[in-house]
Amino acid sequence: MEFKNILFTVKNNIGYVTINRPEKLNALNDETLDDLKECFKEIQGDYGVSVVIVTGAGEKAFVAGADISEIHKLNVIAAKHFSEKGQSVFNLIEKLGKPVIAAVNGFALGGGCELALACHIRLASDKAKFGQPEVNLGITPGYGGTQRLTRLINSGRSAELILTGDIIDANEALRIGLANKVYPADELMAKATEFAEKIASKAQIAVSMSLRAIVSCDELAETEGQNLESGMFAICCGTEDFKEGTNAFLEKRKPKFTNQ
Ligand code: COA
Repeated sequence: MEFKNILFTVKNNIGYVTINRPEKLNALNDETLDDLKECFKEIQGDYGVSVVIVTGAGEKAFVAGADISEIHKLNVIAAKHFSEKGQSVFNLIEKLGKPVIAAVNGFALGGGCELALACHIRLASDKAKFGQPEVNLGITPGYGGTQRLTRLINSGRSAELILTGDIIDANEALRIGLANKVYPADELMAKATEFAEKIASKAQIAVSMSLRAIVSCDELAETEGQNLESGMFAICCGTEDFKEGTNAFLEKRKPKFTNQ
């Protein structure tokens, strides 16, 4: 797959999506959003990709936001479409059915923080900076940030970040639960790969079913969520990997999963 503003490679069942506009700090313009949508649609149907890592090209930025030169031209109607388009691309990522890890290598601001939030796990370099600085531009977050950030780190902390527009470093992001882990910058991609390989070595149907249940948590009431969970659990118990995993435990050996 070739894209204008994205690099995509696959190695050992790990898909690497790199936003590639380093001269604009990987700001998400319309073309890049289209690339992201196409790329993730392809990944969704590609059995050769078990886990995805998203990062930014260059040393400075993961993604420094939606492209402000495009936002600047929006009128009210166009702005609604603009926001809904970004939301739908990020919803696709969140609901991919495969784990997506954000390897946050620098600025993750505005739409960049929202992209990281749409991923399931956020690994940060010690040089990463997170923030929702939209109030400085006279706008709200528009790609799901008010919802996902609030659910992830609680409403008080989310309000603090969104209402002040403050930019925080990686250790603060770790402290408030926005980042899962922080690594030295030169180790980030190796650690993200290690993380992805660990997940890819597990029974993939169980990984996917677990992820679907986790992601739907925000949308379902407790009883519906538990009902979904028991359904996912039951589906897993019909798989070859279930037989292999439980047999291997009882026979005191390592399982060999076939993702069947
Ligand atoms: N949209 C469009 N272009 C952006 C951008 C964005 N969100 N973020 C950075 N850029 C561009 C700059 O305009 C500049 O382009 P130019 O060289 O053609 O002038 C280039 O990327 C480098 O950015 P620059 O501001 O010179 O780097 P810096 O190191 O001085 O500052 C930031 C880095 C991240 C603090 C600063 O770029 C910034 O505040 N960006 C906007 C962040 C933001 O508000 N994001 C939310 C948008 S909704």
